[in-house]
Amino acid sequence: MVAAPCNSTLPRHVAIIMDGNGRWAAKRHLPRQAGHVAGVNAVREVVRAACDIDIENLTLYAFSSENWKRPAMEVGALMGLFRLYFRNDMDELVERGARVRIIGNRSRVEEDIRRMIEDAERRTLSNAGINLTFAFDYGGQEEIAAAARELARAAAEGRLDPETITPELVSSRLFTSGLPEPDLVIRTSGERRLSNFLLWQSAYAELMFVETMWPDFGRQEFLDALDKFTQRERRFGALPESAA
Ligand code: IPE
Ligand code: IPE
Ligand code: MG
Repeated sequence: MVAAPCNSTLPRHVAIIMDGNGRWAAKRHLPRQAGHVAGVNAVREVVRAACDIDIENLTLYAFSSENWKRPAMEVGALMGLFRLYFRNDMDELVERGARVRIIGNRSRVEEDIRRMIEDAERRTLSNAGINLTFAFDYGGQEEIAAAARELARAAAEGRLDPETITPELVSSRLFTSGLPEPDLVIRTSGERRLSNFLLWQSAYAELMFVETMWPDFGRQEFLDALDKFTQRERRFGALPESAA
């Protein structure tokens, strides 16, 4: 068992692409939905671990803007699980002091889910514990395009000088405004791509691809990933400390 890395080396923001539910189920001759159900347990375990070791920000990719392309039955099952998770786990999240936020395009989700999301955000707004963000109906390109649209509108209406557009200003118009950029992005299931997740925000994130399918990813795998993170050398374009 690996102990939790000491606080000074902890990433401030961990983001996870929770992938592999379908393959986890297929391997057990179960329907894909069973993999998603098991995936919710992994969410619970990782959120608890992150709270226990005081990770400041955890962002979980739960449903992409492209996941609408899946069969209606699977989309329906995922929506149902999202509802269930919020219904069952909100009290614990409130108790743990989590501040819950959902990033993504809310206009496409059903009214009751939208209300549930708003309710969760309102209920936890002044909490001072972990910032727990769910990317739900989220797409990074769409997010950047929406920010560009907003800035272009302001410029067209004479409220903004285009010369003053900086990366910081663009960042402030993204869903993640106010959150630090992710230090570590983990993707489970062995796939090596971002699938439209936090494209702008991950400019200097450490990417970690692990073979474990999401339903099998738990506290220990999370701690292992944090431990590996501490061994990475981040340079941000400068020279390593030893050479500077
Ligand atoms: C991740 O698991 C969950 C969502 C994308 C909602 P998948 O459903 O993508 O599982 P695989 O990749 O097919 O195994
Ligand atoms: C990314 O996984 C989205 C989530 C984990 C929510 P996908 O399974 O949808 O990604 P692709 O299609 O393999 O790139
Ligand atoms: Mg997948």
